[in-house]
Amino acid sequence: MQTAPPVVLVIEDDALVADMLRTMLSRAGYTVEIAADGVTGLARIAAGGVDLVLLDLLLPEINGLELCQRVRERESDVYLPIIVLTGQVRADQRQAAFAAGADDFLTKPFEREELLARVQVWVRARQRMQALHARLLHEQEQLRRSQRLEALGQLAGGVAHDFNNLLTVITGFSELVLQRLGATDPPRSYLEEITKAGERASALTRQLLAFSRRQVLEPEVLDLNAVVTDAEQMLRRVIDDAVELHTHLSPDLWPVKADRGQIDQVILNLAVNARDAMPRGGRLTIETANVELDESYAQRHAPVRPGSYVRLTASDTGMGMTPDVQAHIFEPFFTTKAAGKGTGLGLATVYGIVKQSGGYIWVYSEPEHGTTFKIYLPRELEGAPAATSAPARPRSAPGGTETILVVEDDPQIRALVRGVLDASGYTVLEAQRGDEAIRLGEEHADPIHLLLTDVVLPGMSGRDLAHQLAARHPELRALFMSGYTDQVVVEQGLVEPRAPFLQKPFTPEGLRRKLREVLDPAPPQPPSSP
Ligand SMILES: Nc1ncnc2c1ncn2[C@@H]1O[C@H](COP(=O)(O)OP(=O)(O)OP(=O)(O)O)[C@@H](O)[C@H]1O
Ligand SMILES: [Mg+2]
Repeated sequence: MQTAPPVVLVIEDDALVADMLRTMLSRAGYTVEIAADGVTGLARIAAGGVDLVLLDLLLPEINGLELCQRVRERESDVYLPIIVLTGQVRADQRQAAFAAGADDFLTKPFEREELLARVQVWVRARQRMQALHARLLHEQEQLRRSQRLEALGQLAGGVAHDFNNLLTVITGFSELVLQRLGATDPPRSYLEEITKAGERASALTRQLLAFSRRQVLEPEVLDLNAVVTDAEQMLRRVIDDAVELHTHLSPDLWPVKADRGQIDQVILNLAVNARDAMPRGGRLTIETANVELDESYAQRHAPVRPGSYVRLTASDTGMGMTPDVQAHIFEPFFTTKAAGKGTGLGLATVYGIVKQSGGYIWVYSEPEHGTTFKIYLPRELEGAPAATSAPARPRSAPGGTETILVVEDDPQIRALVRGVLDASGYTVLEAQRGDEAIRLGEEHADPIHLLLTDVVLPGMSGRDLAHQLAARHPELRALFMSGYTDQVVVEQGLVEPRAPFLQKPFTPEGLRRKLREVLDPAPPQPPSSP
């Protein structure tokens, strides 16, 4: 990009001197403007775009000293250097000029080289200040954006949390009723519609939770190359034939720690967006690389912490975005797509997942020149990536005969869980609060096989409850459920990293399956071949 030449404003009432300066400075590559009196000069400065002022002291209307003072009083964003150029050589004039705000002082007659050198020094200083100022503005804007996303996240998280309980109840009871209806009962189709709507609402709620970084993640040590390779098949099906998919996977990639399903979601959302940006075809490139972000990078990209990262890049050759669009893409429900085509939750979800995984995401895009998303995930220093493929899940989960203690303060959820467990053959004990559950545990002489508890209970955490109950019932296993975990909850270890967890909203089927997962001892692992 070519930058415009610096603008020098000469404020000088002697036309001959002004002309000479114009010639001299133009030849040196500056754009020169002349003002023949102080008032015109001030007006020109106020209009903006002047990089340096050459100022005569003896001027009609407003003299040079006063003009200096006025410029300094009104100074806005970036400092404007002023060089005084005068025939007066009295020492007190020089001091007065500096006191009024001048930066430099040259007396006529002056040497051409001397003048050009001073002009160059001050223009350069001005340019440096401009660059610093631009950086400051950029950082402020970034900060403002991330604060806005933070606030939106709080709001979305709160809504999603309350919706989770409601949806669990709506879809859960619908399913229980459905199970009791014959295949041809008339209300069946109504209930199926309710269930479907509930599932759509759950999907939305999950995206909001992801955005607000309150999902319960199941982080594991991952090789992103393997994740991308495994996702390729699925991506090819998602993007059109007219879009070529390329992957450049850097060998010896460092491991990262993240939730595999969530990283799949990130890749998928980026790919779908890229597809939509290339309706006439193009190229989607996914790359991985190890990168070190140093102190100077971190300074320019607040709030990045310097260190080792694995970078995942997705670039397309599509329609790109204007800066205005870019400013909003991570906000939930921001979409430029036609009604019914996009909900505007794709990138909000990506943002939340990346942030919750301790990473960063940047976008680079220009209209008609494609888009690149760069995601940085911190390098994981402990542990090696696990095998990649997830075990297949059985289609329908069986019930059981064990005794389960359910602790949940929301009466509707409790009633739902009881309904599901009763119907599946379990013996159910119920409590609303932690202390009540402990009392029940004391009084119950027979084994309690499982504690199914909310993570946060009135007055105590689910985890503490599990510990206390285990003293009396060593056979007891625990399964935690929650609509979300606050960052605080995770950080304070209220949910242990590997503790069995059931995310709300859940379906009766999901609950039954999870119960068996926790209650049945894991089958022996097949011996691994060397
Ligand atoms: N690769 C891209 N190229 C051009 N514009 C993009 C790209 N990715 C995202 N955008 C812009 O960002 C907006 C928000 O994207 P986001 O994925 O959050 O929502 P959406 O795709 O519109 O809807 P949803 O993902 O919920 O179906 C898009 O509507 C589009 O304007
Ligand atoms: Mg999208």
